[in-house]
Amino acid sequence: MPRTLIGLDLGSGVIRAAEVQPNPKGRPQLHRYAEVAVPASAINEGVVADEEVVVAALKRLWSEARFKSRSVVIGIGSQQVLTRELALPRMPLEQLRETLPFRVQDLLPLPVEQALLDFFPLEEVEGEEGPQLRGLLVAATRESVTANTRAIAAAGLRVIDVDLIPFAVSRVQLEEHDGPGAEVLVHVGAQSTSIVVAEGGIPQFVRTLPAGGADITEAIAERLRIDEAEAEALKRRVGMAEGTDPAARTAAKVAGEIAAELVRAVRSTIAFYTNAHPAASFGGVVLSGGGGALIGFADALGAAVGLPVMSVAAGVKFSVGPRVDQESFFAAGPAPTVALGLTMRSPA
Ligand SMILES: Nc1ncnc2c1ncn2[C@@H]1O[C@H](COP(=O)(O)OP(=O)(O)OP(=O)(O)O)[C@@H](O)[C@H]1O
Ligand SMILES: [Mg+2]
Repeated sequence: MPRTLIGLDLGSGVIRAAEVQPNPKGRPQLHRYAEVAVPASAINEGVVADEEVVVAALKRLWSEARFKSRSVVIGIGSQQVLTRELALPRMPLEQLRETLPFRVQDLLPLPVEQALLDFFPLEEVEGEEGPQLRGLLVAATRESVTANTRAIAAAGLRVIDVDLIPFAVSRVQLEEHDGPGAEVLVHVGAQSTSIVVAEGGIPQFVRTLPAGGADITEAIAERLRIDEAEAEALKRRVGMAEGTDPAARTAAKVAGEIAAELVRAVRSTIAFYTNAHPAASFGGVVLSGGGGALIGFADALGAAVGLPVMSVAAGVKFSVGPRVDQESFFAAGPAPTVALGLTMRSPA
């Protein structure tokens, strides 16, 4: 029996962890799922900003949830990451990963020594100078990952893998649509949004934006001169729907304006992808992340891109063990998506 491992998601204002027993033959089993709240300033766009607070929260989470494992997989996302399609000469993957720093400096906006690099092959193609591997280059700033691994180690835990959050999300989201065609996976967080185009279950294109649900809350608070907690509650109540009173109408208008920017980003991503891959056809959109729960957002997105939109049912890819309180787990909605997806990376 393989040992359990834990997907650890450093969200904004919350840390989430899922302990999963991998199962090479079938659905992995979720053993435990737990969350702990932290002040919003402790984690900024997925990067630990206040180590002391995060370490204390992690220790509390481990003792309260009684996780049996200390091995964690963490995610990176948002602005710390750059992903780019790239074709490289065909060679064994291990060798290719070793030579990456020398091959990609021109593509990076930062010195290669400051970056962590990985390459995910997609297909073999014939290039002008021989066989090539087309794939996705993933580059993250070393600094952002180090801040997280340092805090996690200080809490007595061990990072065994680092994965791209959009990839983790895509593992949970994929195959929601049975029909043919590519899927667009849209994950709207508080401070970041990712858009992934996947074909045949494999991510082909990744775009991350530094925008999410928190922008809406902040804008409502500012426009109505109310505090953020009030703005958050108002946002969740009215979403983009027509409000009944002036405050609700203003909130809905503000939410609509910011959501429209996200919708435009999804549309332009589809257009960009179609331009580069004219044969592509799209089957649907799968929506996840708390920000995607905004009332009216799924409908607006579906109408704008002309595709069916489904919400991800976190947990369907897992069998849920007896120690998980099913009610609270499923009530968490899409919140566990990232933590679950981080446990699903097949061993390289
Ligand atoms: N019912 C709802 N209606 C509208 N917005 C919602 C709703 N529920 C949650 N949100 C918003 O979702 C966001 C949180 O989403 P999520 O939990 O996916 O983000 P996170 O992982 O904490 O942040 P990030 O990934 O950006 O670091 C917040 O902005 C919150 O206001
Ligand atoms: Mg998140």
